[in-house]
Amino acid sequence: MMKRPLSLIGVSDALREVRRLIRRVAAFENTVLIRGPSGSGKELAARWIHYLSRRRENPFVAINAGAFPEKLIESEIFGYEKGAFTGAESRKPGKIETAEGGSFFLDEIGDLPLPLQVKLLRVLQEKTFERLGGVTPLDADVRFIAATHRDLEEMISEGLFREDLYYRLNVITINIPPLKERPEDIPYLARFIIRQELGTIPEIDEELMATLQSFEWHGNIRELYNNIQRILVFYPGEGPLRLKDVRDHIRPMGFLPGQRDSELYTLPFKEAQQEFKKRYIRFRLEKNRWMQRKTAREMGIQPSYLSRLIKELGLGKKKEKP
Ligand SMILES: Nc1ncnc2c1ncn2[C@@H]1O[C@H](COP(=O)(O)OP(=O)(O)O)[C@@H](O)[C@H]1O
Ligand SMILES: [Mg+2]
Repeated sequence: MMKRPLSLIGVSDALREVRRLIRRVAAFENTVLIRGPSGSGKELAARWIHYLSRRRENPFVAINAGAFPEKLIESEIFGYEKGAFTGAESRKPGKIETAEGGSFFLDEIGDLPLPLQVKLLRVLQEKTFERLGGVTPLDADVRFIAATHRDLEEMISEGLFREDLYYRLNVITINIPPLKERPEDIPYLARFIIRQELGTIPEIDEELMATLQSFEWHGNIRELYNNIQRILVFYPGEGPLRLKDVRDHIRPMGFLPGQRDSELYTLPFKEAQQEFKKRYIRFRLEKNRWMQRKTAREMGIQPSYLSRLIKELGLGKKKEKP
């Protein structure tokens, strides 16, 4: 049986609603789509759905669709028969099979390549699937939970996500807003994290708490976690936890990747301008996974102008970091 997941902390209306929905949907078998930015608690929510469901005695199996190349993700999900492809020396069950009787958590479903979206839709509709190279349909006795931080509607309009799959998934959606929209949760989260780390909660001075609440935390709770772990290294071990002792060790990711901007100021004007344009546009594009139309709209320029700038500045999609 699955271990009880960590508490889903938060006092904001948004988090209360998330917990309420989790309790409701747990009792049903519907596919659930969990949306929210990276580090906001999507996987934790998925674990709770499973834990509160009648499937809790059975496995919770997670796979991240963004973490593998297309061919590999397909065989990871569906498994394969002996001889299905070169190197398939024996049958291997996929994650759907491993999750039998339990829940199958498909993380980053927005990263699922289009051909696999078709296959997945079929599984959702018919509750059967075949291993790669297999002919016998097998029962998919799993509850599907999907998550994404991507803008699926935008992806549909860009032809990157299938509308039929979207409608199939979008029956029950749980939205987890970014932490910057619910700063009231931060003190509770911070105390929770500190207790996890120290086993106890020292007095925390107001300045420190206010500082933690003042950041946007683009990496959300995961980033808050990392920062609190780091500052605790500098906590003397007794007495209150004070901002003045730990200030230098709080390092949220800035909105602009600006750490090294000072070198811009040493360049001749034209070059500095050019360099700034490059960094700015690359940053905006990366934030939107290189979706140009959306990025152009956010930047307040025409998509055609953005595409010209990309060419002129020699910007290209860089290989993703692993
Ligand atoms: N509301 C919350 N209360 C407590 N911890 C949380 C909460 N939301 C997220 N976390 C923690 O933050 C980290 C990131 O959460 P995760 O579920 O992996 O995010 P996501 O899947 O959205 O990227 C995990 O360690 C998780 O336990
Ligand atoms: Mg995740």
